[in-house]
Amino acid sequence: MTDVLPSPTEGRSGAVLPQYVPEPDEKRYPFEMPWGWFQVAWSHELNPGEVVPRFYFGRHLVLWRDEEGTPHLNDAFCPHLGGHFGYGGRVKHCNLMCPFHGWEFDGDGTNVKIPYSERVNTKATVRSYPLREVGNHLIIAWYHPFDEPPLYELDIPDELSDPGFSDWSIQHFSVAAACQELAENSVDGPHFRYVHNTEIVPEIESYETEGVYARMRSVQKFPTPRGVVDGRIDVDNQGPGFGITRFSGIVDTFLIGAAVPVDRNRCEVRFSFKTRNIGDAAMTSTVGDAFVNEVCKQFEEDRPIWENKAHVRRPALADTDPPFMKFRKWYSQFYAEGESDEHAVWAPPPPAGEGQPVFVPTAPTASRKHRISD
Ligand code: FES
Ligand SMILES: [Fe+2]
Repeated sequence: MTDVLPSPTEGRSGAVLPQYVPEPDEKRYPFEMPWGWFQVAWSHELNPGEVVPRFYFGRHLVLWRDEEGTPHLNDAFCPHLGGHFGYGGRVKHCNLMCPFHGWEFDGDGTNVKIPYSERVNTKATVRSYPLREVGNHLIIAWYHPFDEPPLYELDIPDELSDPGFSDWSIQHFSVAAACQELAENSVDGPHFRYVHNTEIVPEIESYETEGVYARMRSVQKFPTPRGVVDGRIDVDNQGPGFGITRFSGIVDTFLIGAAVPVDRNRCEVRFSFKTRNIGDAAMTSTVGDAFVNEVCKQFEEDRPIWENKAHVRRPALADTDPPFMKFRKWYSQFYAEGESDEHAVWAPPPPAGEGQPVFVPTAPTASRKHRISD
């Protein structure tokens, strides 16, 4: 009798699927950089006259505040000979001066002064990104891969100016996963049971999408020492970078979750919390801190899932699973078709760590080699 063994691709449907494992830093997701409004800083991080480097949207950027208090975000490289404005660049009134040869640019990125010439170079422009400063707390930048002007504006929630809420409590995370993977959590009730070990999972009442908005309404029972308390978790997303979560039940808590792509494979998330005042300030802050700690603990529990999971394009779903595909369809609108590199510049590698640059040693030049061997 002859044994007939199935070849690896025959007879076992679905058992042998290709896996594309990228080289480090290669694109590891089947999506592009999303467009939208994204938080790039907190207001208190940027005083008038300050200039800081940033790396978001796969680009080296410079964030600065002019002496009249207006923040600006521009591409980092000077069109003259490529100086990086974020390293030694200075604010002069309402202009940014390049550290290399002193050329000055206004917030729109127009060359307004060449210190050793009577003329300016009208072709020398630096890309500038529309910015909004929200509630004197968040600095939000508009990003679109083709430099389209803003396609929507953010609705500012009432809680930002409501004296019935506490001051801000903030947290900042860096995650080695694409924004979309984190955002998918907003509809994922079942993972609470397994990743966060909660006894009860939020029950989604509705999930509606309309244009750039996605709204999730859910009920959640919170176990407390005095018994189970009925609560709610309601999430309102405005585009891919700005989500407002309102928790009610134990204590009303308001959370702005702001995700920003560092590049196609990584993102940063900033949380800004406010708690409704209950009793005195000390009591509000104790209860508020406990809540913030729990949300941040859950974020760290999610991290190994996000950073190690694959993106399954056609997931095998249960009939009772939440509306993952409706979420993905909504999110897919934020990817622009057909990115072009017509105006590319060749930049050094992205910084490691928290989005801030690191020193990258270079090979010795020929003359230095010569000196060393002398
Ligand atoms: S590189 Fe900026 S002024 Fe020369
Ligand atoms: Fe989670």
